[in-house]
Amino acid sequence: MNQTQPYLQIALDSTDLSTALNDVHHVADAVDVIEVGTVLAFSEGMHALKTLRQHYPQHILVCDMKLLDAGETLAEMAFASGANWVTVGAAAHIETVRSAQRIAQQFNGEIQIELFGHWTIEDAKLWVESGVTQAIYHRSRDAQAAGVGWGEHDLLLMEQLSEVGLELSITGGIVPEDIHLFKNIRAKSFIAGRALANHDGNTIHDGKTIAREFRKQINHYW
Ligand code: 5RP
Ligand code: MG
Repeated sequence: MNQTQPYLQIALDSTDLSTALNDVHHVADAVDVIEVGTVLAFSEGMHALKTLRQHYPQHILVCDMKLLDAGETLAEMAFASGANWVTVGAAAHIETVRSAQRIAQQFNGEIQIELFGHWTIEDAKLWVESGVTQAIYHRSRDAQAAGVGWGEHDLLLMEQLSEVGLELSITGGIVPEDIHLFKNIRAKSFIAGRALANHDGNTIHDGKTIAREFRKQINHYW
């Protein structure tokens, strides 16, 4: 990759577009990538992508649709609505990955494989053979809520994925204090949702300050 540092990505996972627009407005200058999160994509659909593309023409825009089937149709919907990157679940059939990848190429976009659930390094090799260049290493919300932290096992798998040729984005309840854990990983981007939003449940955040803190950590370690 020719980027010198990992990107910072905000995941917009609110159920309504106006909250998402408010969240991203506060941090847009500090992030490289804007994600229409799975929650927002389900709730507001392609309209959310089109609106964000209009408001933020220069940012990389991701549709985190975690698609598992109908790769061609769903990928085309997202890319045609302004996405640069579209996520495909690791459980998708390899033919779904190939279809989504074909569409990505037509739009000059990229597919990212979301590494949820069961997958193997052999799967990763197949994704790469299909032309996929990116994956997202994901600690699920539910795993995080159950107290699952980042460990040696995660770092080892990340290194193996890099060796296979995948650029890796890292996500799942990430906060600035976590960034140092990944200092030896060639991360594509750090994806933060709740940490960068202006609220997390009833707690009010200052997303802009947290974004600056992420940047400080990224500048320090890369
Ligand atoms: C959940 C997601 C989220 O967008 C991602 O995990 C970032 O959100 P958070 O930082 O709140 O975990 O894809 O499946
Ligand atoms: Mg997401």
